[in-house]
Parts: sequence; C-alpha cells; structure tokens
Amino acid sequence: MSLFKVYPLYNVNPKYGEGCYVYDDKNIKYLDLYGGHAVISIGHSHPVYIDSLTNQLKKIGFYSNYIVNELQENLSKRIIDLSRIKNYKIFYCNSGAEAVENGLKLASYKTKKRKIIAFKNSFHGRSCAAIACTDNNKIQSKLSAQVDVSFLPFNNTKLLENKLAENDVCAVIIESIQGVGGLDEPTTVFMNDVESLTKKYGSLLIADEVQSGFGRTGDFFAFQKHKIKPDIVTIAKGMGNGFPVGGILVSDKIKEEYGLLGSTFGGNHLACSSSLAVLNVIEQERLMKNAKNMEKYFRKSASKINSVKVKGRGLMLGLEFDFEVKKLRDDLIYKKHIFTGGSANKNLLRILPPLNIKENDFDKFFKALKELL
Ligand SMILES: Cc1ncc(COP(=O)(O)O)c(C=O)c1O
Repeated sequence: MSLFKVYPLYNVNPKYGEGCYVYDDKNIKYLDLYGGHAVISIGHSHPVYIDSLTNQLKKIGFYSNYIVNELQENLSKRIIDLSRIKNYKIFYCNSGAEAVENGLKLASYKTKKRKIIAFKNSFHGRSCAAIACTDNNKIQSKLSAQVDVSFLPFNNTKLLENKLAENDVCAVIIESIQGVGGLDEPTTVFMNDVESLTKKYGSLLIADEVQSGFGRTGDFFAFQKHKIKPDIVTIAKGMGNGFPVGGILVSDKIKEEYGLLGSTFGGNHLACSSSLAVLNVIEQERLMKNAKNMEKYFRKSASKINSVKVKGRGLMLGLEFDFEVKKLRDDLIYKKHIFTGGSANKNLLRILPPLNIKENDFDKFFKALKELL
C-alpha cells in the first residue's frame, strides 16, 4: 500500500535528533529552525523528556478518561504555575484542530448561537469547524461550508461590532500572532475591543494558542501581551514537544457538565508526562527568557541584511523578502542543511526553532543566508 500523497515531501530522512539539530540517514547534520512546525519546544531528545516518557511507559501508558489520572491534575497545576493565568479549567485532547473544534463546539453549546467570526489569513486546523474558520478556499469542502463563518480584517472594530450586533455569533476565534498566515498581529487596542465586544453581545472569545502558546513568543501565551482574558484558550503543538497532546483552557464562568466533551486518548498518561517534562525544562532552563533574548539577537543579525523585514515575536519569527522564498528555502535545506518554514505569504521565511536555540546557531543561519542571497 502506498501513501495517500497529500504532502509535497522534502527528500530528507531524519534518523535522530539532538537539541536544535537533526541527523539524516547519511549522517548529515541539519540545523532545525522549523521545529517540526513549532512543535519541538525544548529540543530534540531532551534527556528530561526521554526520562519522563520512558519512566511513565514502564508504569502505565494509557487508561480510560473515566478513571482517575492524577497526571492530568498535576499538568493543569503546572500550566497555571508557569502561565500565571487564573480561573480556568482544562479539557485534554490530542491535537490543535481537535482543541479548536472542541472550543467552537463548547461556545455554541453555551451561547446557543451558531455563527463564528474569524480573521482574514487565519489558520485553525483541518477538522470540520476548524477548517471552516481557516481563510483558505482551496481546502474547504461542502461539509465545512455548512459552518457559518465571517472573515474580518484585523483592527477594524466597527466591522466587528456590526457583525456581533446581529446577536447570532457564538465565538470570535483569533490568533494573537498568525502562524500559517504569516505572522501578522492585531493591535492591543483591537484585542481589548474583541474582549469587551464579545462580552457585550454574549459571544465567547477563543484565543487560538496552538502555535503561539507554551512559551514560543517569550510569554507563556501570546495573548498575555494584551492583558486580556479569553473565555477559551486552545493549546497543542509545543505542549508535548512531539508527543500528540492538546487541550482547551475554559474560563470558569463557563460551567462544566458530564458528557459535554469527550476523548478516548486525550490527556493519557504518556501525553501528560510529555507535557510535564516540557514545562519542567521551560522553567529550569528559563526558555521563555531565552526566546526573548534570541529574538533580540535575531533582529540585530537580520538588520545587517538588505531589504528584509522581521516579523513576529520571541521565537515565532519570520523574514519577509521582496521576492518569493521557495527557492531560498530549498537551497537552505539542500545546500546549507537548514530547515525553515514557509507560509501563506510566499515572500516569508518562517523561523520556529526549539526554544533553547543559541546565538551561534543563528550565526550559522545568517552566514548561510548571506552566502545564498
Ligand atoms: C493556530 C493553529 N491552530 C490550529 C492548528 C491545527 O493544529 P493541528 O495540526 O495539531 O491539528 C494549527 C496548525 O498549524 C495552528 O497553527
């Protein structure tokens, strides 16, 4: 049986990884500035991570969500410790799309409304409601077309209020920094307007932190820069450093009910132990501080390159050129052995490295970039 080919593959076959590097089947070493699409948060094969998963696997890897799993409580306490957000409860699932799907469904249950507001260039995942909120016609289907979504531009409060005033919107879903879309950000004023207007018109605010959460931007969550309190926060990607784990944080103004949401695998023992290890390393190695410092270093190095604009925050960064970057990305990987990311903005090279990247790793990247430009 062959693969159902939906991914245009780069011809590199990674066999093992260490920190910010992966090694292929010919033992060629690659600098990983992509982090498997913002997933590798604490670096490949981190010893704390390996120990945590190995020890847990030796005890118990999985049991049903209808039986106590104290790791779920431990993990929720650690998320609160590190993020310092208050008055949320957590529901665990397995991926970003699932988190978004659960968040939207919960918003619709609670408000008894069915329309959604999302933003131009958004990406929220591939399940039915999540993809309906993704601003890309090419990947919509008749099924997702049944979900009623309006795509608004960032920073236009009037349009937002007009839509919300129709009183049929269950949720406004927003990325505080767009990932796949190309690192555009709403202003703090707009984020505060979204918060107050969703309250005024009885809708819920969902902050999609699937890509930007767990320290990637130098804050635990990207929305924290704006000092808002979303009703629901979606999490995944960096949460498990590669182990599939996701969840939604639900403001405790939203009341829980047995049976409202559910998942077979969500929050299993291995998933929780992967994320507990991630949080321990983020704390012990001060990786949020490192993300902020490395952003400064990256910006300084990028300022020496002609006609390039730096976008993003922390280690969710991009370099925007005045030409399409496809060939540059190919050359970086095949000639210089450096992984980078693309985006909906074809002129943008995305930089999403493990959060423990160091200055000399970025030096290698900028040296390679200068040689290729
Ligand atoms: C902001 C955002 N939300 C949701 C998703 C979907 O996550 P997953 O691929 O884990 O389903 C992504 C994936 O790139 C994302 O960037």
